[in-house]
Amino acid sequence: MRLPEHIRRVPKADLHVHLEGTITPDLVKRIAHRNKIKLPDELLKREGQTFQWKEDPTPLGSLRGFLQAYDDATKVLRGAQDYTDLTYDYLKRSAEEENCIYAEIMVSADHGAMAKLSWPDMLAAITRGYEKAKAETGIEMRLISTCVRHYGPEGALKVGELTRAHPHPLVTGFGMAGDETAFKIADFLPAYEASGLKNRTAHAGEATGPATVREARDVLKIRRFGHMVRAIEDSALMDEQKAINAVPEVCVSSNMALKVFTDYRKHPLRKFFDAGLKVVLGSDDPTFFRTSIGREYQIAQEKFAFTEKELAKLTRNAIEEAFIDEPTRAKLLQRVDAFKAAA
Ligand code: HPA
Ligand code: ZN
Repeated sequence: MRLPEHIRRVPKADLHVHLEGTITPDLVKRIAHRNKIKLPDELLKREGQTFQWKEDPTPLGSLRGFLQAYDDATKVLRGAQDYTDLTYDYLKRSAEEENCIYAEIMVSADHGAMAKLSWPDMLAAITRGYEKAKAETGIEMRLISTCVRHYGPEGALKVGELTRAHPHPLVTGFGMAGDETAFKIADFLPAYEASGLKNRTAHAGEATGPATVREARDVLKIRRFGHMVRAIEDSALMDEQKAINAVPEVCVSSNMALKVFTDYRKHPLRKFFDAGLKVVLGSDDPTFFRTSIGREYQIAQEKFAFTEKELAKLTRNAIEEAFIDEPTRAKLLQRVDAFKAAA
């Protein structure tokens, strides 16, 4: 999927992306071969660079079916080299082909454990992939240590504790992904507190509605939200979110693939932006949802009439709200502003 040049040249930031969700079928095959693993038959049946999963025809059925495929694809990963390759592959292609200047990637100690990696070893492996990609392209990356909601509060607490026990300069935030209907958000507050990290985000308002967004905001005290798109169903909530200067991490292709919306015209990206919400974009699980961060910017332009200036604003929002140190933020903002000046 090559981007048209007028989209490619816009500097981009991916503020919502799950590391294992970037794995290409080619890399799955290569790693499965290296690790002598037989792949589940279903997974690679679809044409092209994507995966297949079974689902019932509802947003929750789609999310659950997808999450199973995500774990199935992750099962090929069995060690440090696999995580190094995965990280390098994603960052290199995003930077080189799409002019992505910053990616903030969700990483899960639970998925590392499935690959037989301790949390520190997983982070070291990811760091090696990042350093190589950064040396070759200049891309910046930070990590969000992410617990998985449907693995339960006790598992999440362990992830929080591991995060605090092994501080790492690239791990700058804590988050929660997974099935939004599992348990209550309050059950995960101990995990967030145990992590010791002040920068927080959580998936809310994707498969479930406004109540989850309020719960995440009020219990976890967050301003950044994974998705938040279903806040559009409640105009009072939209006003409340605007009042706290909320940052919705919007992933249009993910929402379409998981049937949160059935039509681009029903998707609230434009409404969010026009309401003054500080929208940022994410590719979520790009190979599963047949997308990339560049493609998300392209969709913003083609389906939601974002001008080049507005696309650059999305990147500026992302850099302003990134979980990153101030000198790096300033450096990245300069890259966005240099583009605007040249455009
Ligand atoms: N949604 C919720 N949880 C996830 C996702 C997603 O798209 N990807 C990985 N975990
Ligand atoms: Zn996500």
